[in-house]
Amino acid sequence: MTTKPTTTIRIDEDLKRRACEVFDDIGISMSAAVNTFLKAVVREGTMPFEIKIERPKSVFKTRNATLNNAFLLKKDEFYTQYDDISKEISMYRGHLKGKSILCNCDDPFESAFFRFFAVNFEQLGLAKLVSTCYAGSSLTGKEYPLENATAAYKAEVTEVPDEPLVKADGSLDLESLFAMPGNSLMHLHGDGDFRSDECRALLQEADIIVTNPPFSLFREYIGLLTHHQKGFIILGNMNAATYREVFPLFRDNYVWYGETIRSGDRKFYVPDDYPLNAANCGMDDQGRRFIRVKGVRWFTNLDIRRRHKPLALTRHYRAEDYPKYENYDAIEVGQVHNIPADYDGIMGVPITFLDKYSPDQFEILMLANGNSRTNVSPEILKSVAYRAHSEDRGGVGIISGRRVYARILIRRKLR
Ligand SMILES: C[S@@+](CC[C@H](N)C(=O)[O-])C[C@H]1O[C@@H](n2cnc3c(N)ncnc32)[C@H](O)[C@@H]1O
Repeated sequence: MTTKPTTTIRIDEDLKRRACEVFDDIGISMSAAVNTFLKAVVREGTMPFEIKIERPKSVFKTRNATLNNAFLLKKDEFYTQYDDISKEISMYRGHLKGKSILCNCDDPFESAFFRFFAVNFEQLGLAKLVSTCYAGSSLTGKEYPLENATAAYKAEVTEVPDEPLVKADGSLDLESLFAMPGNSLMHLHGDGDFRSDECRALLQEADIIVTNPPFSLFREYIGLLTHHQKGFIILGNMNAATYREVFPLFRDNYVWYGETIRSGDRKFYVPDDYPLNAANCGMDDQGRRFIRVKGVRWFTNLDIRRRHKPLALTRHYRAEDYPKYENYDAIEVGQVHNIPADYDGIMGVPITFLDKYSPDQFEILMLANGNSRTNVSPEILKSVAYRAHSEDRGGVGIISGRRVYARILIRRKLR
């Protein structure tokens, strides 16, 4: 039994509902969120974000204004490691040949994305590489100081020198690279926001978009890519798959996880002012701060081998092992490896199922969570025989009167 006292606080009803929707998406409870906030207050000895009236200071008025607090900005400034990029992107050689690649939300000279594509330009047979940075980025201009380094700029590469691009000290030979006639380095007119007309035009021209976009804008980012029907390989948090805007893309086979990264944490470089006392934060031998982040996945819409690899099913269905939900015509399968090989009906499986999902083997029907009643069409709810339960908080599966975790409702494809 918990010894922690229960605290009652008054919260505006609408505010609570909207906040709960966000927590549901992230997969944490309201209580965990409040505790996290209070711990940050204690850790930082003050409010963990600035409270002030936002007034634009520079010519670049960023459109992240509503999200522009210390929490979210810090989350947006994670820099991907070269090895993680190299392992994933090397699996897409067939898709990349002859293509024009755009790395937006990037810092061409600080990020490993630009470095990877520039160094492997010939080997991958690329037609063009464009990388843009955002004026709000805290790394821009640090590694390779540029004139007016805080302004957004764009690097374009259509050819690379015959000599190796990487110099003895590990830096890129940018002088030789940009001395080539087909290459250019230019300031952007605006702030490099991926939603700006200027950046959308670059998106339109590109074939495949590869980046690690800002965490706080992931929904909007992936929405833009699918709207423009672009190929993409982008990094995000696995929980993003459960967002109301993103889950239907998984369900309808427009998006899936990439080839690599299925477990554990990944190291990301963070800006020099990132608090070292933050959980999982450290410093490498070169004095660069990093943070280890769990639950990272590549999201792509380019076909990959892994997605056609069926999950080995070793269990047999026995009614006593697989209870039925009270509010869905489906059985509860609490762990992915327990999916029975011989059950033809609907099954509720954990979100981690997406790590193993092959559309050749299963179809995804819906996400049964606290938002199902509002997010899922009446036709789909009817097809899974959903009936509202007093305890289901909008659609969470109920067994013996108790809510289970969020589940994906799936069905085996019959041959
Ligand atoms: C998670 S970091 C990743 C950086 C780089 N792609 C990498 O992985 O090394 C996200 C980047 O997006 C930038 N950013 C934040 N808001 C943006 C916006 N609205 N438009 C474009 N870029 C943005 C941040 O400054 C940051 O450089």
